[in-house]
Amino acid sequence: MIVVRGFEARDAKPISGLFTRVYEERYFYPQIYLPSVIRHYNRTQQWQSVVALHEERLVGHALLWRSPEDASCAELAMIVVDPQFRGRGIAGRMSRYLCDHARRQGMSVLTIKMVASHLWTQRLGMSLGFQVTGLLLDYVASGLCPRSRESAILGVLPLQPQPIPLLYADGDQPEWLCALLERFGTVAPCRSRHSEEPARISIQDNRLDLILDHPTGADALEIIRLSTRRVMHLRLLIDANLASVVPVLHRAGFVDTGLALGGNRQWYWLLQRGFSDHLLHLHCPTARDLHSGTRKDMALAQHY
Ligand SMILES: CC(C)(COP(=O)(O)OP(=O)(O)OC[C@H]1O[C@@H](n2cnc3c(N)ncnc32)[C@H](O)[C@@H]1OP(=O)(O)O)[C@@H](O)C(=O)NCCC(=O)NCCS
Repeated sequence: MIVVRGFEARDAKPISGLFTRVYEERYFYPQIYLPSVIRHYNRTQQWQSVVALHEERLVGHALLWRSPEDASCAELAMIVVDPQFRGRGIAGRMSRYLCDHARRQGMSVLTIKMVASHLWTQRLGMSLGFQVTGLLLDYVASGLCPRSRESAILGVLPLQPQPIPLLYADGDQPEWLCALLERFGTVAPCRSRHSEEPARISIQDNRLDLILDHPTGADALEIIRLSTRRVMHLRLLIDANLASVVPVLHRAGFVDTGLALGGNRQWYWLLQRGFSDHLLHLHCPTARDLHSGTRKDMALAQHY
């Protein structure tokens, strides 16, 4: 019999062992290899882990990772099941346990990053009620296949309303956006205010990430001068100014890859450049629409 229960301090070491068996040392979040860190994060509730046990042996793990910006937001993450115990509904049981836990705590929203290299977590995400909102193409080095890159599919499960600021007039929005507006509802975008806050920038392998909380035309002109040799992922807060910024980026070869909900519960527009064009295994129609739009836009951008 499989028992699913909340984290206890003695689970930390076997959780590390499970990730080492499945990923060797390639897992994206190295914290998982240090039992003392797992215990610390669970003690401080930044992580809320759940484990699956078969006769006292730890065979599964998943967690809610609370946002440091807003504790009512969390990511459902680090879902892994021992290869000998897969296909028996263990990931589903652990994930439902955590979704119920989030509801009982009055949390406002859960997010998930599902890998595009197989359908299992995508199916799991859909059955839990997550809505696909965006793609992160060529996001990280794959933890399971050395030397290849993994794309991620973003999903959002609203536990309280999370309306999307309406950027375009009715009929002008891309097709993939219609499904999202229908699911989440809409709100008028905030007026952009002048801010001294610069873009948040970081580099991960060959990927450059930029997050702009007050995107302006001047920011766009700076960004389009950056090297085209890197994969670039942009996240631009959706405000009243964004509709004038996005076309500048499109002309410089950036393509829309959907929306992401930030840890502050605000919606961001995703644009990317420099990723490779390969087929992905996508379960959800919104993800397929988004990806085919991305491939078409990329082909057009290369043509000009
Ligand atoms: C992904 C993973 C956690 C799934 O664990 P699991 O306990 O086997 O999953 P479940 O039995 O609960 O099934 C989850 C969904 O995947 C489907 N699934 C499971 N195994 C499958 C398989 N071999 N082929 C196709 N679908 C499969 C199930 O049918 C279910 O979908 P449904 O809800 O529509 O029926 C497990 O395969 C794993 O640890 N993989 C490596 C790590 C990984 O990729 N983690 C996810 C990172 S986002």
